[in-house]
Amino acid sequence: MSTAYFNGKFLPKEEVKISPDDRGFLFADGIYEVVRWYEGFFYDMPGHIARLKRSLNEIRLSWPESESFPAVAFELITRNNLQNIPSLVYLQVTRGAAKRSHAFPGPDVLPTVYAFARGFHPEKEAIAAGINVIIRKEIRWSRCDIKSVSLLPNILSFQEARDLDCYECIFVRDGMITECAHSNVFFVINGVLYTHPESENILSGITRKNIIRIARETGIRVIETPVAENKLNEISEAFITNTSFEIAPVISINKITTGDGHPGPLTRAIRDRFDEEIRSMGG
Ligand code: PDD
Repeated sequence: MSTAYFNGKFLPKEEVKISPDDRGFLFADGIYEVVRWYEGFFYDMPGHIARLKRSLNEIRLSWPESESFPAVAFELITRNNLQNIPSLVYLQVTRGAAKRSHAFPGPDVLPTVYAFARGFHPEKEAIAAGINVIIRKEIRWSRCDIKSVSLLPNILSFQEARDLDCYECIFVRDGMITECAHSNVFFVINGVLYTHPESENILSGITRKNIIRIARETGIRVIETPVAENKLNEISEAFITNTSFEIAPVISINKITTGDGHPGPLTRAIRDRFDEEIRSMGG
């Protein structure tokens, strides 16, 4: 039986009871965070806490215990015997349970806080060989920088990719590529690495930030500017990044082969440096 964290307590997941009046359920009025456990440490926990606080702040939700996230996450790893297993810890915070009204509830209504950990098998080899993706019109809102639990457009786009035996869906807003349903995207054009800058149109991925740093440390030029969809014929490499699969080389977009159809040299160099960093941290 797995142990979860719910409103300040650790308890069997089956005993967690969330009210039907919870604003997360009624309005998707909440945010979340996901951090990866590498059999001994969380990758860039300070980055995740900073983003958690920012998401809370942007939706004007006060959870004074946000600093407890690392301790809660570690406790979930320990209590679920995941110390030696690659795992993810999810934290969900909503504006609590209250009579249904669009207006915020009063200060007496406390946020609902739920966290869980789960082990997973990174599909490292399959991903390293490269993935196929689709590209579609952006159907999300205009505050994609907030890690909101409102993920319906992401889910619909991701499922469309899955239905077509693809791994991810890239979004295009006004002709420019933003990011993907659950990851950020990078392109190589003439030896330069491009990705969308931080803005309200993308989630500022923790992996994205670290990959930009690692690429620069490797001597690769990185330009944070949106790539137009009509420039896709100029790209020699593409990859997507997120906390769970880290870096996934893209080998086709809408069935059109990317580069030579294999993970490219810059992607592999960045991947190697990332793996090296994880090893040096003890992973
Ligand atoms: N998703 N963009 C979107 C829309 C995302 O949902 C995610 C992460 C990212 C990458 O962020 P990071 O590198 O911090 O994981 C970008 C997570 C993994 C999820 O929803 O499960």
